[in-house]
This record gives sequence, structure tokens and C-alpha cells, in this order.
Amino acid sequence: MRELADITPVKWDNGKIAWINQTRLPWEEEWKVSESIEELASAIESLEIRGAPAIGVAAAYGIALSAANQSEAGSMKDNVLACYGRLRKTRPTAVNLFWALDRMLSKFRSLEASDAPAVEIREKLLKEAMAIHSEDIGANKQMGRYGNGLIKDGDTILTHCNAGALATGGWGTSYGIIRTAWQSGKDIRVIATHTAPLYQGARLTMWELKRDGIPAKLITDNMAAYAMKDENVSMVLLGADRILLNGTVANKIGTYGLAILAKHHKIPFYVAAPTSTIDPKGRKIPIEQRKPDEVRNILGKLQITVRDADVLNPAFDITPSRLVSAIITEKGIATKPYMESLAAMK
Ligand code: MRU
Repeated sequence: MRELADITPVKWDNGKIAWINQTRLPWEEEWKVSESIEELASAIESLEIRGAPAIGVAAAYGIALSAANQSEAGSMKDNVLACYGRLRKTRPTAVNLFWALDRMLSKFRSLEASDAPAVEIREKLLKEAMAIHSEDIGANKQMGRYGNGLIKDGDTILTHCNAGALATGGWGTSYGIIRTAWQSGKDIRVIATHTAPLYQGARLTMWELKRDGIPAKLITDNMAAYAMKDENVSMVLLGADRILLNGTVANKIGTYGLAILAKHHKIPFYVAAPTSTIDPKGRKIPIEQRKPDEVRNILGKLQITVRDADVLNPAFDITPSRLVSAIITEKGIATKPYMESLAAMK
């Protein structure tokens, strides 16, 4: 079996939350440790912690943290509710955040209703957050096994953004499938897009690919059509921030364009995500609009346009289900009609 360099991007660390600062990768591996909910919220907003499942795991630890050291039921409740409210406001698109916060709040409410003592509530909330974390890693590995069945020896896989260990509890969703295929001995190669404007593909996916030793080529986002036409791309495989039951996918800006290009070139377009990314009630997906300076300047450093240029900066786009060949979850591979296949998994 080939060796892989795994990473756990968010951890519970002795009463505190620790995370690798993803805005500093690939230049340095900086770990931050905090017991402040405000610092955790800012870390999610600034993308120090990012990727739908990783945000969910971090939020779950946030609720556990907000209950820690509270010996009175009343102050514990105030803290938990304040944390829940603050973290819900950090990022609007990835549904894993709301899913994890709701699961933690309902655990808190059921413990409160059973008149459990404060010490037991604290312990059980932490246990729940750890369960969310380990279930995510388990789901990723299961997705890897299912998704590996779609990959052949010699395939070239085009991916976008970062849906690796960094974006999850550990291992990765779509990148986890690539790792599973590589580990099982298949000789594959990856084409990773830059993923402007914050370069999650160039900075983070290439960092993971290099650590894992998987052959990869980096392209700018506007080279994708060229790659599909002339570089023998076997499939597009990427993650998701929110999936509706009808198969509509919200993912990193640029995903929709890749889906259209894949359709034109008759290349399968696969999305991988745990069922915690499926929004069973959603109709309209809120798209996060980020600061204009992310587009005006390269990573806050080099200004690349006129001062105060008016810009658009949606962080995500929506891909209609007709462009999605299949959705890989930990419960299996969903195909059209998604309304039936995804509903059966949720
Ligand atoms: O803005 P980001 O970096 O949080 O966006 C992340 C993505 O769009 C990922 O592709 C998605 O969350 C899937 S991660 C397993």
C-alpha cells in the first residue's frame, strides 16, 4: 500500500480548539490554539478553517467549548446559545455548519430537559462533537471506497478548490477518493485548478498532492477547457458545500463553468460529499459574497487592477443537477433522478 500523509485540520486540544491556519499554507504550517468563540468565528470567516465539513467539525467543537468551565446550568445555556448564534453568522453557504450546530444544540436541549448536571452536559457535548468529527472521517473513507470504483488505472482527474483532508475532519471528500485510488495502486494523475481568487487549489490541494506523492499538474482556472480538449481528462471530480435533494450543487465559484465544459467534452462530472452536505429542506441556496479586495489584490498583497475597481466576488456558484453525472456519498453513488436517490440516503 502506498503511504499517504494525512492531516487533521481541526482538533480538540485539552479544553481548547486547535487548527492549522490554512491562509498560511503552503508557506508555513502554523497551528493556532484558542478557547475564544470569537477567535474561532473569525478563523472561519477569514478561511483559516475552511471547507464545508471542516467548518461543521469546528462549529461542533465551538459549542462544546462554550459549555466548558460553566458550572451553572443558566450561564451554560446563555453561552451555548450565544455561540450557536455567532457561529451561524460566519458563512452562509456550506450547510454542514448549520447541520452540526443544530445537532449540537438539540443534544444540549435533550440533556437540559433530562436535568443532567452541568458536568455531564459538558462531557456529553464534547463526546457529541468528537462523534461528529470521527463520523466525518469515516464517511470520507467510505466515499473513497465507493468513488474508487469509478476510477480506472491511467485516469486523469481534474479537480477544483480543495476538498482534501484540510477541508474535512481529515482524509477528504473528492480528494479522499483520489487518495483511495492512489493508495489502491492505480496510476492516476491529477489536474488541479488554481481556484481564484483565494487559490485553494494552488495553495492547498497542491500541498496535499505533494505530501501524498500523487502526480499532479497545476493549471490556471482559464486553462480548464484546454485541458479537457487536449490533456485526456477522464473525469471532473470535486466537492460540494450544499446539495439539494433534486441534485442541485453549490460549490466553489468556477464549478458551474467546469460542469458546462465537461458536458461539452463528454467528460463525466462527479461530485463527492457526505450526507451532512445534503440540505433536505433547502430550496434556494444563499451564495456568500466576499470582500471586493479579494478580487482586486492577490492574497492581500499585490494590487492587480485600478484602485477601487468595482468587482463581483461570489464565493460559490450553483450547478444544476442535469450537469452532474453522479453524486458520491458515504451511503453509495446517487444517480438521476436525484430526488429519489438522494432522498433515500438522507
Ligand atoms: O470557501 P471555501 O474554501 O470554504 O470553499 C470550499 C469548497 O468550495 C469546497 O470545494 C467544498 O467545501 C467541499 S470541501 C470537502
